Amino acid sequence: MNLEKLIIAIDGPAGAGKSTVSMALAQRLGYRLIDTGAMYRALAWSVAQAGLPAEDGPALRRHLDSIEVTLDDDRVLINGRDVSGEIRTPVISALTSRLTMLAPIRAKVTPLQRRMATGGRVVLEGRDTGTVVCPGADVKFYLDASDEERARRRQAELAARGVTMALPAVLEEIRTRDVQDKTRALAPLRKADDAVAIDTTGLTAEQVVNRMMQEIEQRCCTRS
Ligand code: DC
Repeated sequence: MNLEKLIIAIDGPAGAGKSTVSMALAQRLGYRLIDTGAMYRALAWSVAQAGLPAEDGPALRRHLDSIEVTLDDDRVLINGRDVSGEIRTPVISALTSRLTMLAPIRAKVTPLQRRMATGGRVVLEGRDTGTVVCPGADVKFYLDASDEERARRRQAELAARGVTMALPAVLEEIRTRDVQDKTRALAPLRKADDAVAIDTTGLTAEQVVNRMMQEIEQRCCTRS
């Protein structure tokens, strides 16, 4: 395994610490970060903008054919418009979770994500990156944490963006999304058999990244 061009997949539920850790790991390795959730959120944003119902139908398919979603570093664009600032609201989170159950939604971005991963030097972050997008990824991680800790992190994240939400409401939102993400028929959230599970409860992002680096370096040294 060549440390110069790995494909690293990081999956797990909301609030498990994926975003912070994936960004830090990508930075440490000098890799590109592919935030797959941001792509789905951008699609949800565009569906909301178009006033379409959140169900699979001809209108949704026509809409998807008419839009282009692109990742440009940490920005996500719909038909060239930067929507990064508008996709992280509770409303878009809930809509995204519903839309990501639908085949045309997943079919729109999965091939793009695979293409971006070609050649390696990428950290993919999401729910199905180690199971569906890149099942052959060199190193896979599955991050999780207690529900309460995940809710606290999510609440702080929202607060940093000026959205105030009580902890019980965040906890409920997280649990609803978990059920939707884990039980959907298509690309459900689950740990890949060969993923390294890390419980991030009580760990700092730096501690998690160090643990990941250890795993990556160990594999690169012991396999050729
Ligand atoms: O990671 P996030 O909160 O930005 O993800 C938003 C939603 O998109 C979440 O409900 C899970 C879904 N998602 C998915 O189905 N597949 C992915 N690879 C990434 C996210």
